[in-house]
Amino acid sequence: MMSIVAILLVAAAAAVQAFPSLSARQSIMALTTSQIDSFTPYTYYASAGYCTNVQTLAWNCGTNCNANPGFKPVASGGNGDSVQYWFVGYDPTLDTVIVSHQGTNPSEILPLITDADFFLTSLDPTLFPGISSNIEVHNGFKDDQASTATDVLAAVESAMSTYGTTSVTLVGHSLGAAITLLDSVYLPLWLPEGTTFQTIGYGLPRVGNQAFADYVDAHVHLTHINNKEDPIPICPGMFMGFVHPAGEVHIEDSAEWAACSGQDNPSTQCIVGDVPEIWDGNESDHDGPYNGIEMGC
Ligand SMILES: *[C@@H]1O[C@H](CO)[C@@H](O)[C@H](O)[C@H]1NC(C)=O
Repeated sequence: MMSIVAILLVAAAAAVQAFPSLSARQSIMALTTSQIDSFTPYTYYASAGYCTNVQTLAWNCGTNCNANPGFKPVASGGNGDSVQYWFVGYDPTLDTVIVSHQGTNPSEILPLITDADFFLTSLDPTLFPGISSNIEVHNGFKDDQASTATDVLAAVESAMSTYGTTSVTLVGHSLGAAITLLDSVYLPLWLPEGTTFQTIGYGLPRVGNQAFADYVDAHVHLTHINNKEDPIPICPGMFMGFVHPAGEVHIEDSAEWAACSGQDNPSTQCIVGDVPEIWDGNESDHDGPYNGIEMGC
């Protein structure tokens, strides 16, 4: 089994290298220092996703909570084991509802996205009414999102009405970023027209197929930030039919943040070109630092 996977990985890498003009054509822009700094409150919210539901509901979780001191928690849940922790609340400075999902460490997420047990499957039409069955996602991520979806929706509705805002920002790291991306497709189907959404994922693995990536590009305002040689964002492999939506920002070894255009930009300034294979990656890059912030509570 491993040898077939290895052959497919080599074939996938060869396919990317067969189109060098792609990387020349797709532009890479460096973010300014103030653009990089503008992510900081969201990075802390993603990191706070690792804190327990009790800590985030009280907004008493040390550094991650103190970084956004005005936050008004509304609801939290999960158990940090079978269900990732999550929280919802309102940030008066940013005037937006925040939705955050807990991530996990490389040793727990890598088996989820590299072993042979996962598959692409359609979204549940009960949760995702009107979404085409051609849109397919990782079955494990689908189940994880489904387990908290309706609780998260109720909390967002409550936060929007309590604080009178129409802005919702979704954040998450790792597995939390994958759940967050599915929430970013789910919540707009249920919230009033005129609600504005923004999604910021850190160390996001590939979540779905080409149709999913295209849907996200058309409907979700997404930024997904990849740190250096983190191997998680190149999994599951493109050879398995998984595609990243656009919106990548790649933190380079120089600490420059590169905005990578398009889906799975093959430039060496972006994660696909920088980490062609899992063994080119460095798992310790997964948790950060993202502009000085290490993920975790
Ligand atoms: C992996 O990354 C860590 C943190 O950036 C670094 O200290 C270490 O030297 C890297 N390991 C390799 C093999 O490059």
